Order: sequence, then C-alpha cells, then structure tokens
Amino acid sequence: MIESQHVPRRARVDGADHPLEEAVVAVLDEGFTRGDGAFETIGVWDGRPFRLEDHLERLTGSLTSMRLPPPDPDALLADVEVVLDGIDVDAALKLFVTGSGTRVVTVDAPPHRTLPRRLVTQPAPWVRPLDTWEYAGAKSLSYGPNMAATRAAQAAGGDDALLVTLEGWVAEGPTFQICWVADGVLHTPARGLGVVDSISRRSVEALAAQRSIPVVAGRWNVEAVQAADEVLVSSSVRPLLAVVEIDGVALPGAGSIGTQLAEDLDRWRRGVALRDEGEPAAETEPAGEAVEAHEAGGIDEAGGDDVVDEVAKVEEGRA
Ligand SMILES: Cc1ncc(COP(=O)(O)O)c(C=O)c1O
Repeated sequence: MIESQHVPRRARVDGADHPLEEAVVAVLDEGFTRGDGAFETIGVWDGRPFRLEDHLERLTGSLTSMRLPPPDPDALLADVEVVLDGIDVDAALKLFVTGSGTRVVTVDAPPHRTLPRRLVTQPAPWVRPLDTWEYAGAKSLSYGPNMAATRAAQAAGGDDALLVTLEGWVAEGPTFQICWVADGVLHTPARGLGVVDSISRRSVEALAAQRSIPVVAGRWNVEAVQAADEVLVSSSVRPLLAVVEIDGVALPGAGSIGTQLAEDLDRWRRGVALRDEGEPAAETEPAGEAVEAHEAGGIDEAGGDDVVDEVAKVEEGRA
C-alpha cells in the first residue's frame, strides 16, 4: 500500500473500545488456544473501506465452511463505523470472529511488510482442492503455516513465498494472490485449487475484462509462470505489484498490462473515475464477467497450447 499518513490505532472487542495496543482477548479464547476462527483484512483507501460487503460475505463463508456460526453483520458494521470514524487516509481494517464467538475489529496503519517482488516456491500441502476439503480457502485464524512459508522463503533469500500444491500447481502467496499475463491473456490459479477467493484478484479480473483483456483461470506449474510476460501479485492492502524473480529466475517485471491494471485498481479503490473518457463510474464494480474457470489436465498439459484453447473458450463464452 500506500502513503504513511497518521492512522489512529483503534480496536473494538465485543463492542467495547480500546486503544489498539491495549486491546486483549482472553487466553482461553479458542482463537488463541487453537487458532479457531476466521478473519478479514480490508483495505481502507482515503478513509473508505473497499468492497466491505464482499469481505463480510467472505467472512461468513469462512466461518460457515468451518461449521462455526455466521457473524452478526450489523454488529460488525457498527464496529467498523466506530473504528473508522474521522479517518480519511489509507489504513488496514481487520475483522476477527473466533471459535469462542469473540468479535474483534481493528484499524491500523497499512502493514509495512517487505513487498513480495522476489518469490521462492514453498510446498503448501494444506492447499487442497476444494472438492476434497470444504474448509480449503477459508481465511481461518490458523495462518501459522502461511507465516512459516514466508520465513522459509526469506531464509532462502527471497522476499516472500509462492505456495505450490503437492501436485505442483501454483496457488497463491501466504498473504496475497498471484496472476500473470502471457500472450495478452490474464491467467489466474483456479478457485478449485482451494486458494483464498481473493477480492483484489476479483477486482483485477473485472478491470481486465473491462479493458477487453481475456481472463482465464486454471492450473499451471511454476515453469509456466516463470515464462509469463508479466507476473503480478496483490492483496486488499497492497497495490497490484510486478514480481521480478521466482526461484532465482529473473522475470520481465512491470509491463504495460499490469501497469494499466494497477492504475485502474488504485483509482477504483479511491473512488476516482476509471477512465478519462468518463466511463465507467468508479463507485460500482466494473461491468463484465471476469472468468471462465478451467481445470487443465496434468502438469504436462498446463500452459502452452492449452492456454490458447482456453482463451478461445473464454472469448467464445463472451460472444
Ligand atoms: C492466502 C491468501 N491468499 C490471497 C489473499 C488475497 O486476498 P485479498 O485480495 O482478498 O486480500 C490473501 C489475503 O490476505 C491471503 O491471505
């Protein structure tokens, strides 16, 4: 993200206000003892939370998939209103609901993590296809393996990890989504891989579709991503960034499509008109269905001609 303007650090725990550094949750809370619960991180741009409703919906989905009760959206919205009161700068808003039913909402400055420009692949055996594990893709509070993957990648000289499934499919980063441009087509890992259904990725897909850039979702191995023209990452609190290296292989870096989409995303988040020509308005989601999901067969079949076939399918689907 973002500019480093002053952000008041606030928390609400079950509806009670605290300065962020003083807010506490009981040690017997299931969120602490077992990492049981779910969370959302929401980008606040010029004081406005971007796609808050979508984050609330995803939080409900995460909890439901874990067989926990859905959150109380009115209580969460009331918390959000209180913690964001008077804030007109960029910030990170977080919602947590634990297995004990504890509700926490915080606002803080955007995170100052290392930008994920040089990635090192890490196995992610916990990223299982959705059809084998209904809990896959939930933003659960058990992020230990994700954080450990980041540390392992940093110990290997990178900025962050690129998580790869046991089958060798590129999935996501520990806290960000990955997509890439090859032959003018935006490629994204299929939701069926069990990745988090990234809201920033949904936004990028919608923006690409709006610029008539074909979008295809599927399963690709690391070599296919290393061969791409532009490799991009994003999250709700990060801009769309170009990756410059994967496992020591230098990538082309920022290209014209990624640069354009990054600008579009920033404008949409800030509620600025997306195009000089005056269309479309930015407050609503850009029109256009983003993705026709595709599951390629084996590793050997991923990429190459399959991609061309899929582009044809996507274009056909739109016609
Ligand atoms: C594992 C994982 N994948 C992807 C993302 C990106 O999701 P979003 O764009 O909704 O922030 C995140 C965000 O934290 C994440 O934790």
